[in-house]
Amino acid sequence: MAVACDSIEPLLQELVSNLRHVEEVLSFVGIYYIGKLTLSALYNVLDGMRIHVISKLFAPKLTQKYGQWAVLAGINGRIGEAFATEFARNGMNIVMLSNSLEEMKKITQKIGKEFGVETEVLQIDFCSGQPVYSNIYNSLNQKDIGILVNDCRKLVPDTNNLENISDDDLWGMVHANIGAVPAMAKIVLPGMKERKRGAIINISSIEGCSLFPFRHINPATEAFVNSFSRALDYECRFSGITIQTLLMGPVSFSADKKQLSSFISSIFIPPASTYAYHAVSTIGYSQITTGYWVHGVLVWLLKRIPESLLIWSYVLAFNFKHYQKID
Ligand SMILES: NC(=O)c1ccc[n+]([C@@H]2O[C@H](COP(=O)([O-])OP(=O)(O)OC[C@H]3O[C@@H](n4cnc5c(N)ncnc54)[C@H](OP(=O)(O)O)[C@@H]3O)[C@@H](O)[C@H]2O)c1
Repeated sequence: MAVACDSIEPLLQELVSNLRHVEEVLSFVGIYYIGKLTLSALYNVLDGMRIHVISKLFAPKLTQKYGQWAVLAGINGRIGEAFATEFARNGMNIVMLSNSLEEMKKITQKIGKEFGVETEVLQIDFCSGQPVYSNIYNSLNQKDIGILVNDCRKLVPDTNNLENISDDDLWGMVHANIGAVPAMAKIVLPGMKERKRGAIINISSIEGCSLFPFRHINPATEAFVNSFSRALDYECRFSGITIQTLLMGPVSFSADKKQLSSFISSIFIPPASTYAYHAVSTIGYSQITTGYWVHGVLVWLLKRIPESLLIWSYVLAFNFKHYQKID
């Protein structure tokens, strides 16, 4: 028994001294990991300040930096009005291309009067595909297009299975949400390249960064815009043209700011005018952004949650809502 104790003691001492080495290695790993996290958080904060604060302090004159005309493709209603107002406030003339002619006319007449800029509207059904683009080309060809905002979205109600989507809706979404984005860019890019200035803003959504079972096509088209826009950005990096991917988060289209349920919800879901003001100020400062700093923080937090947890929570919530409706 005594012999066994004598032989175990040196072994334990050896083990303890080895563990000290392991402890040293682990503390180095810990210091490295915490250092990396701190540096990355610091970088994110400084980059956020550059995109959302410095950009407002040193806002360029949009007409000088990009050109005289802003084209809003498939961006009508409150969000269209908000972007058009922001560009017109900066002295840019506006062309609106969308489906609802009366709504576009109302918006352009209002901002034309308020800011004394030129405006044009063109009724386009982007779901019709290729035939509409020669008309658009003829209208834009002679203009000094400074900024194009690509935002056409045909949305269809969520369904719990793909077979319930009609063929018209399916192809409409493909033409409007996917085809219109490169097709519009292709029309304005040659002029921009010749003038060595211009910006194309492709609006996608935070939704496009993850998977949304049962919503099938719409979030997938957002992912297309995201991928296409980021690739085009690299293609145009040295041509003097800015390509920006705008990952839009929730925005309130309520006419009256007071209708927003609370101050807190208006911070997370800003009115369209607040969103457009912040988003336009980021042009030229960030190639890919949510356009609004609160949404930027939300995305940063969401990226820290395992994707499968997000997807399964969404699947459960969707099914719960769906079966409640059936009952
Ligand atoms: N609303 C939000 O809170 C929110 C949140 C995240 C991301 N987003 C993103 O923001 C974008 C717009 O969303 P939204 O809520 O404003 O959607 P929306 O109200 O349905 O707007 C879609 C736009 O596309 C136009 N459009 C639809 N079909 C068209 C067609 N066949 N031809 C021409 N124009 C057509 C509409 O113009 P007409 O009215 O003239 O048809 C409208 O201006 C999308 O990219 C969406 O993913 C929105």
